[in-house]
Amino acid sequence: MDLLKYLQAQGIGSRKECTALIKNGLISVNGTVLHDGKTDIVPEQVRSLHIDGEEAVVIPLPYYYILLNKPENYETSHKPRDYPSVFSLLPDHLRATDIQAVGRLDADTTGVLLLTNDGRFNHRMTSPKHKVEKRYRVRLKHDADETLCRTLENGVLLHDEGETVAAVSAELVGSRTLLLTICEGKYHQVKRMVAAAGNRVEGLHRERFGDWDTQDLQSGEWRFVYPEQ
Ligand code: URA
Repeated sequence: MDLLKYLQAQGIGSRKECTALIKNGLISVNGTVLHDGKTDIVPEQVRSLHIDGEEAVVIPLPYYYILLNKPENYETSHKPRDYPSVFSLLPDHLRATDIQAVGRLDADTTGVLLLTNDGRFNHRMTSPKHKVEKRYRVRLKHDADETLCRTLENGVLLHDEGETVAAVSAELVGSRTLLLTICEGKYHQVKRMVAAAGNRVEGLHRERFGDWDTQDLQSGEWRFVYPEQ
């Protein structure tokens, strides 16, 4: 891939903008300033990329996968209404690529959120057919007992839906703390399931999505991950 295309794929700018950066000697790859847009670049061999002296995050190409520990009061949307976008937690040039969230978390939900430019991966992770498990730590409004867990595991009828939805598992780890695992991603699913079972969600954190958890990430931090294909 030539340097010009590589920079565009990195979200650095338009063809015209990247041409100007190269012409002005403002691009260096692995510590070497490159002056020719046709220089051959092997993406896997790029260890560092500097633009006008500033180090830029090197995006794995062609596909990348990001694990974000979503903080409270961020919206999973490119066009947020009430809070900042989760994408604002990433470098500008990464946001300029074709990045999408893998499903959504509500603004008040925290925890594992995956972001990617790989549409097939996105579909595989979110399609109910593939039954990818998501585990939530739920703070309940009212004290609960095993009845709540059995109700959720047996299935509840969600408001406005004809079919019941059942949890993969539900476990109480405190009188008001529930670990709930589900494999669908319906709109407000956890809040609606808990409401249908007669309690109420006061706080929601996604601890796990498929193979990923956020144990090594502070709230708002992210890193690239490399799913087994
Ligand atoms: N279920 C919800 O109700 N909200 C979320 O953010 C995720 C799952």
